[in-house]
Amino acid sequence: CGIVGILGKQPVAFDIVEALRRLEYRGYDSAGVATLEAGHLERRRAEGKLRNLEARLRASPLAGHSGIGHTRWATHGAPTEDNAHPHATDRVAIVHNGIIENFRELKQELAADGVAFATQTDTEIVAHLLTRELKSGRTPADAVRATLGRLQGAFALAILFEGEDDLMIGARRGSPLAVGHGDGEMYLGSDAIALAPFTDRVTYLEDGDWVVLSRGGVQIFDAAGNRVTRPISRSLASSLLVDKGNHRHFMAKEIYEQPEVLSHTLAHYIDMASGTIRLPEAVPADLAALKRVTVSACGTAYLAGLVGKYWMEKYARLPVDIDVASEFRYREVPLDPGGLALFISQSGETADTLASLRYCAQNGQRILSIVNVQESSIARESDVVFPTLGGPEIGVASTKAFTCQLAVLACLAIAAGRQRGVLGEDDERKLVRSLIEVPRLVGQALKLEPQIEDLARDLSRARDVLYLGRGLNYPIALEGALKLKEISYIHAEGYAAGELKHGPIALVDENVPVIVVAPSDRLFDKTVSNMQEVAARGGRIILLTDAAGAEAAGDQPFATLVLPEMYQFVQPLLYAIPVQLIAYHTAVFMGTDVDQPRNLAKSVTVE
Ligand code: G6P
Repeated sequence: CGIVGILGKQPVAFDIVEALRRLEYRGYDSAGVATLEAGHLERRRAEGKLRNLEARLRASPLAGHSGIGHTRWATHGAPTEDNAHPHATDRVAIVHNGIIENFRELKQELAADGVAFATQTDTEIVAHLLTRELKSGRTPADAVRATLGRLQGAFALAILFEGEDDLMIGARRGSPLAVGHGDGEMYLGSDAIALAPFTDRVTYLEDGDWVVLSRGGVQIFDAAGNRVTRPISRSLASSLLVDKGNHRHFMAKEIYEQPEVLSHTLAHYIDMASGTIRLPEAVPADLAALKRVTVSACGTAYLAGLVGKYWMEKYARLPVDIDVASEFRYREVPLDPGGLALFISQSGETADTLASLRYCAQNGQRILSIVNVQESSIARESDVVFPTLGGPEIGVASTKAFTCQLAVLACLAIAAGRQRGVLGEDDERKLVRSLIEVPRLVGQALKLEPQIEDLARDLSRARDVLYLGRGLNYPIALEGALKLKEISYIHAEGYAAGELKHGPIALVDENVPVIVVAPSDRLFDKTVSNMQEVAARGGRIILLTDAAGAEAAGDQPFATLVLPEMYQFVQPLLYAIPVQLIAYHTAVFMGTDVDQPRNLAKSVTVE
């Protein structure tokens, strides 16, 4: 979910909507705004995308100069208007991101007190707790202090109070929240991008902080209730352009930006003059002495990590333990002190990834992260951050962030290989040269688009699709299936090609397209055997390979997409491109909401 609050000089409702638009990546199940009009709280809310709220506000405007707003990714309660934020009583209106974990107990307690509930949300409980404190005579700040003491979980809040036009209170525990400093105006937002239209002077709250805002200034308290000061920094977010250019969807624009953002990212890690790796900062552990690396991430970022595992094990002989963050954080993994833990995240705010990071930090690990948003929580809590220079990624399905993550992981693997004495100087130069060619080869891979558009028509009729890959391309098969199901809603599964015969082959018939990611490397023959197993059962094969692979496969495949020849090391970076285009064009063909697929959010800041 995304949160915005403004204490302004003019009516703020449409400014709040503008800021929420920049937060829609955090969810778009419903949205709402509350403002104070002559001291009285008024709300407008709507189910679905922000444009519905905008229409409602146009039909029935809000005039207040103090306001809060919210765009929701549903957790407790269906995505209806009733469950949309802000939630309100006769004393407060509140917007909330995150989850109140002890909400059942609190709800029972309030119910026993005679409180009636209007929604199924956990947020409403907070509104009632605050109201009870206010009615017992506490000031707003004291009511917030007392209420925060009752809440368990990870959350961010923004609160307005009936009759208090120059007051807004915010709190952050686990979920991100930033304060924007204007000229006689003050702002709260889930991130600096939301505040970019209004100010570039931003204070990032520390975990546990809560803030009392008025137009004239801000008082910040830490979790123990002590007054604290936090620095004001200049945010770079305002310079970031967020529009679709000539593309129909952000996802298409982001796919096509890859040659450029990959060049930027690679240039940050490669000394072009010598053709060797030059990391921007030292890895916070001795790579030569390291026994293993622990990697944790979610979704597409996890699949980038899985490619990283193959690279680091093969090219640096460095064992990698990798898991999805939602499992890792509770697995009670034993960790050797002084070990290296690596986290990969586009947003830098994914709750499970952040929790895994904190577990590792508490268990004596040095923390390295690969992050696209440099002002994010994960970036700020890491010992060292390796940035992906992808620019803002708006499409919910990650594309350019993924390949930029791969680029950084590839450089890290080479650096580790050198430091561990596995790679010699010539090996390093050869691998780096193959990386430098990637942006150009991505440009060539993008030329497959017309052929992929034709295929998409065919794929859009399928109920199930299988994706197969081996070795370095196994994670790409997983990514292909993930991308396809995320945005086209066609059921898709990625499998290690060799596992086909242990289960998924039971699904194969003439109605199940099987997409095989198989460049002609030393594993190619084995994958061809797997393809024969599919063909023998009438399955329709779509083969992603190079010219030599296409020739060797003969007429078995129903369709073949031929990529340029490349060094094996960089295959995942290149094979990711047709996989993204297949998902994109199938979704466009199906007519789904490509940039904002149903039920998903770009940045998941709840568990
Ligand atoms: C969500 C997004 C995915 C993303 C994952 C991890 O599920 O829809 O595209 O891969 O979160 O996000 P992160 O920001 O941590 O990379």
